[in-house]
Amino acid sequence: MAEFRLPANSRISKNGKTHKAEGAAQPKSFKIYRYDPDSGENPRYDSFEVDLDTCGPMVLDALIKIKSEQDSSLTFRRSCREGICGSCSMNINGTNTLACTKSIEECGNDVRITPLPHMEVIKDLVPDFKHFYAQYASIEPWLKAKTTTPSGKERLQSPEDRAKLDGLYECILCACCSTSCPSYWWNSDKFLGPAILLQAYRWLADSRDELTGERLDELEDPFRLYRCHTIMNCANVCPKGLNPAKAIAETKKMVAERAI
Ligand code: SF4
Ligand code: SF4
Ligand code: FES
Repeated sequence: MAEFRLPANSRISKNGKTHKAEGAAQPKSFKIYRYDPDSGENPRYDSFEVDLDTCGPMVLDALIKIKSEQDSSLTFRRSCREGICGSCSMNINGTNTLACTKSIEECGNDVRITPLPHMEVIKDLVPDFKHFYAQYASIEPWLKAKTTTPSGKERLQSPEDRAKLDGLYECILCACCSTSCPSYWWNSDKFLGPAILLQAYRWLADSRDELTGERLDELEDPFRLYRCHTIMNCANVCPKGLNPAKAIAETKKMVAERAI
C-alpha cells in the first residue's frame, strides 16, 4: 500500500549542525542527510563548509575530506573512486548518480546530498540493498546450459553475438535507475525494476545461454516485468549511459514473439 507521507520518525528534524571551514580560500557548502538509528533521533541535514582549494574535484572527494577533517561519523559507501564498483551511488541535488564521477563544479552553488530514494536507510548515505540483491539473485545471473561444453574447450561466441552484450554487461548494479523509477518506488516488493531487468536481459541476449524459455517463464508476470510503464527515468539517470528501458522493451518483445 502506497504511503504518501513520511512516517513520523523519518521526518527531517531542524536540529542540523553547521561545520565551518575557518580561513577557507574557496568555501563551498554541502548539505548532507544524516541519520543514525542508534541515536533514536529523526534524520537531519548537517551543513559542511569545504575549502575547494584543498579538495579533489569530485563530490566523493568532498565527502572523504569532510569525514577525515570534520566529522568522522559521516557514513557512506565507496571503493573504486572511478565509477566501476557502483558503491557510491547517492542522490546529489535531486538526481541519483555516482559521487565519484560527479564533479563539484557541475553542482552549482549549493550541494545537497541524500541517500538513494525509496530504500530503507541503514545510516546517513547508506541504503539497505538486501532486497535489491535478493532480486538480483532471483534472476540467476550466470550462464546456464543444457548441453555439455566441448571437452577441454570454452563455449564459443561469434563477434556479432558478443556485440549483442554491449550496453548490458557494463552495468555496475549501482541501483541509480531502480531508485529513480516510480513503478519501482511503489511496487519494489514485486516489480524487479530496471537494473535487475537489464541484468536479466543480459542473459537472454547471450547466445551461449540455453535456458531462454525458462528465463522468460520466470519474467512473464504482471508485476515482475510488466510494471514498467516506459517512463524512462532509468535511462535518463544511468551514470554508465545504459538504457534499461530498451532492455525491458526487448524482453517484452521476446515474450510476445514466443506467443505467436
Ligand atoms: S543500469 Fe545503470 S543505473 Fe542501473 S544499476 Fe546498471 S549502471 Fe546503475
Ligand atoms: S522505463 Fe520502466 S523501468 Fe525505466 S523508469 Fe520507466 S517504468 Fe521504470
Ligand atoms: S566509488 Fe566505485 S563507483 Fe564510485
